[in-house]
Amino acid sequence: MQSAGGRTIQEVRAREVLDCRGLPTVQVDVVLADGSLGRADVPSGRSTGAHEAKELRDGGTRYGGYGVRRAVASVVDVLGPGVHGLQADAQRVLDRRLVELDGTPDKSALGANALLGVSLAAARAAAASTGLPLYRYLDSDGHLLPVPLVNLINGGRHAAGQLQFQEFIVIPTGAPTFSEALAESSEVNLALGEVLEERYGRAALALGDEGGYVPPVSDPREALELLHVGVERAGYTGRFQYGLDCAATHFYDADERVYRLAGKPFTSEELLSLYLELIRDFGITTIEDPFAEDDFASFTDLTRESGIQIVGDDLFVTNPERLLRGIEQGSANALLWKVNQIGTLSEAMDAAAIATSHGYGVCVSERSGETEDPIIADLVVALNAGQIKTGAPVRGERTAKYNRLLQIEEELGAAARYPGPQFPGVSASRR
Ligand code: PGA
Ligand code: ZN
Repeated sequence: MQSAGGRTIQEVRAREVLDCRGLPTVQVDVVLADGSLGRADVPSGRSTGAHEAKELRDGGTRYGGYGVRRAVASVVDVLGPGVHGLQADAQRVLDRRLVELDGTPDKSALGANALLGVSLAAARAAAASTGLPLYRYLDSDGHLLPVPLVNLINGGRHAAGQLQFQEFIVIPTGAPTFSEALAESSEVNLALGEVLEERYGRAALALGDEGGYVPPVSDPREALELLHVGVERAGYTGRFQYGLDCAATHFYDADERVYRLAGKPFTSEELLSLYLELIRDFGITTIEDPFAEDDFASFTDLTRESGIQIVGDDLFVTNPERLLRGIEQGSANALLWKVNQIGTLSEAMDAAAIATSHGYGVCVSERSGETEDPIIADLVVALNAGQIKTGAPVRGERTAKYNRLLQIEEELGAAARYPGPQFPGVSASRR
């Protein structure tokens, strides 16, 4: 163990790297006095919520405006000098300093992508200095491997198909361990590929942003039926639950106040009825963002009437204030937890703590624009959150997280737990 003095921040570097869509993102290095290095990449969403903290992009023609040289400059010229000499293991003090340096409520001055890179890299540097893996450094009791919500069919803004719902998810709750859950999910994914090729030809094997298939179907029932056929083909009938991320903000017509689904307009009430039918017919136990991002009231109605896990993503944007508003109104009963929606690790940790203390579930999530950085795998175990969304079990930016979880499971050995049938872990009073 190094002395605490060794954990003062000595140098902060940043660079532009590529994410899985080939777009630039920020990578930050934090170096401590004792020589420990922490490095972190910042992910980026495509179906972002209006209330998220704002990433800074360059504009102009370079990378179609998506360059992050200005965000890199925020780190090198402002945030780095601003945290120089702070203790990397005083995360809360450090994050407060980052927020003050930016000075805006949505982190738009220096960029949430700049702040988050420093926040996460500092946590990694502090962990490296202690010699502990990040999940252990952040919470010495982290022992719960997550149930993966495996997104096997992509729609909405993540795919060039005809499905408006963004994610069609299989959930391996019948497996006894995380590694077996991953194996079963991967087998289902491969079996689904066979089914799609037989039914629609090889063109149906194209993948969306999160590695799921993009079959030529437009009715959400057909997509859910395909998931069931994939599970059956793999020989795992009865061992999976099912889920949706509707990302409904993105098919809501605010002018007409209707949702446009498969060419038809739906009022909130009609959409709610559709959800209740799908829940009944397809074994769905979790739905994320069933309504548009400011429609707290419809979230409340579905939470009450469905009895399943209802997750707020664009609704809460990992923001303690919006989450507290939802808790007051009984909107949803679980928080989708994305560190870059709020921009610092401490604030995201606060949101998770609020959720847990009110009986809300916490589902840790990737973004559609990811890198090979597996940090959310450590974070989900540190939080003992019990559920993670990190896409289909293919492509390096998705498998990086699954593979890191396999390492953590092995390290934990007999101490590792897997929720399995206890999913979704939302307390009964909230379901
Ligand atoms: P995004 O999608 O990263 O493109 O926002 C993920 C999600 O909606 O859960
Ligand atoms: Zn979502």
